[in-house]
Amino acid sequence: MADKKIKSVKLIIVGESHVGKTSLIHQFIEGTFDEGTIQTIGRGEKNIKEIPLKSGEKVYLEIWDTAGQERFRTLNKIFIKDAKIILLVYDITDKKSFDEIVTFWYKDIISQLDNCKNLVIGLAGNKSDLYKKQEVDLIEAQEYAKSINAIFKETSAKNSDAVEEIFYELAEKYHELNKDKNKDNDNQNIKLKPENKNEKEKNVKKCCK
Ligand code: GTP
Ligand code: MG
Repeated sequence: MADKKIKSVKLIIVGESHVGKTSLIHQFIEGTFDEGTIQTIGRGEKNIKEIPLKSGEKVYLEIWDTAGQERFRTLNKIFIKDAKIILLVYDITDKKSFDEIVTFWYKDIISQLDNCKNLVIGLAGNKSDLYKKQEVDLIEAQEYAKSINAIFKETSAKNSDAVEEIFYELAEKYHELNKDKNKDNDNQNIKLKPENKNEKEKNVKKCCK
């Protein structure tokens, strides 16, 4: 019988103001969309959703909203450090919002994590319903996602396109990586000598870009 253990995993959603972070969460959690959302101030609310995995197991995604306006540096490092999944969001009709992911958000968040080994990254090009006003080249976004090993989708919080898919794929990838991590941990448990501290630091640097 499949293991039905339920794990909780912290997902933080980041990106410029107005790209649709809060809207994506509302669409995913409640299946609703609001044309006139209120700008998130400070650290946004936490939402929890149970995700059934293909294996028959489940995870609880703890989805934390953030405010694009205030940028991540104002948020407490303690809030970020135990995140296991980061969803980077830009607006396909706003090239600057994509450029800021590349030049600021990704690097900033990676630099604030204690350990990004097994970190799962997603990239959502939101507002895909506004494709007629698209400014961000799909190929460029796909190539960038590949370069940071991110799951990529163009989403629409408005009509729900690819919203469920991106959250589910992130949860599945987290589960896959975590299974391997647990196996590694089991192996470490039978090691006679503990891992050398310098080696440990080297490993962390290797996985952080
Ligand atoms: P901050 O809280 O300031 O960081 O912004 P945010 O990223 O949370 O953006 P929010 O979800 O508040 O959405 C900003 C605006 O874009 C709102 O007017 C939304 O209705 C609109 N919006 C969000 N997602 C979509 C989408 O997929 N399509 C369209 N057409 N509009 C969207
Ligand atoms: Mg918001």
